[in-house]
Amino acid sequence: MKNFVSDNTEIGKWAAETQQKLIRKLLPTARRNRDKVPFRSCDGVFDDYSAPDKIGWWTNGFWGGMMWQMFHLTGETIFREAALINEEKVRAVLMDYENMDHDSGFRFLLNAVAHYRHDHDDRAKDTGLLAASNLAGRYNPAGRFIRAWNDSGGEDRRGYAIIDCMMNLPLLYWASEVTSDPRFRMIAREHALTAAEYFVREDGSVCHIVDFDCETGAFRRSLAGQGYAAGSSWSRGQAWAVYGFALSYRHTGDIRFLDTARKVADYCIASIPDSGLVPVDYRQPETVLLEDSSAAAITACGLIELAGYLEGAEADHYRGSAVFLLRTLDEKRCCWDPETDFLLEKCTSAYHDGEHEFSLIYGDYYFLEGILKLTGSEFFLW
Ligand code: GLY
Repeated sequence: MKNFVSDNTEIGKWAAETQQKLIRKLLPTARRNRDKVPFRSCDGVFDDYSAPDKIGWWTNGFWGGMMWQMFHLTGETIFREAALINEEKVRAVLMDYENMDHDSGFRFLLNAVAHYRHDHDDRAKDTGLLAASNLAGRYNPAGRFIRAWNDSGGEDRRGYAIIDCMMNLPLLYWASEVTSDPRFRMIAREHALTAAEYFVREDGSVCHIVDFDCETGAFRRSLAGQGYAAGSSWSRGQAWAVYGFALSYRHTGDIRFLDTARKVADYCIASIPDSGLVPVDYRQPETVLLEDSSAAAITACGLIELAGYLEGAEADHYRGSAVFLLRTLDEKRCCWDPETDFLLEKCTSAYHDGEHEFSLIYGDYYFLEGILKLTGSEFFLW
């Protein structure tokens, strides 16, 4: 995909129609699934990650986020009910140290913090601030990074940082805004600077995991993580980087983050196939056709965010590329049947997993967010 520029009137019409399709799809879906915490689906029916051994999963805030977006858009109370149920269930994770990894942003921005932003609810604010405090506590001052995961299966992860964390930083930016205490923002900014230095390669591709020496902070190695191989280019990681650096620019005004977002975006746009269907890894073998639709939706959201800080042909180029990705998903990868719970097909969690190309709740969330960005109806949650 090279040089995509768009016609704004026609795009506005398509986006408005797609928003209507989302309302027709998500109203019955919310009614059927109000009390669930969906992650994937089986035969078109959402699963439920509400159980104590599943509620810590990093994706559990996305359903709440979808419900807040839809309540903001339509005022239909079913969406608000579902969002509040999601918040209440996920709140339990706050007292579960092992599950409180760096994904506190994904877990709490989209439900508790969204609730606070909407209603100034005090309990929701406390939840968000406790989650932000835990996230800030994961900061390693020697290496100036936020530790990603806790140890598991005997693996020492004390020095692990991952590119996905760029999307968790807005929880820290929000905490500084709400408390007027700059510490949260300082930690987020330092982590983002470290990510720009160690994760983003000269050509704009990014690595998924960097392992630092947890005592000295020295770089040790980079790892493939959920991508094809060390040195490859996991498409969802690329998407987290585009959107995450653009958001760090929004919250800090530091031009280095805008430049980094642009560099990663240029690499993504040059790597996306002409079909508009995004592979799991931009450097996976040519004979492998595995896709990740969630990466396409997240990239689109990041490109729209980035375009918002630019002008003229450059802004048109990023926004036009985002529209191309979202239209491709609408036409080829969205299930618009209102009897089927999931929206986006062919999402993939990790290249080397045994299973690929299924529905994932964050794919649905970011497709919805991308369309609402285009229609100007987004409830901004980052
Ligand atoms: N850990 C976030 C992701 O799988 O993209």
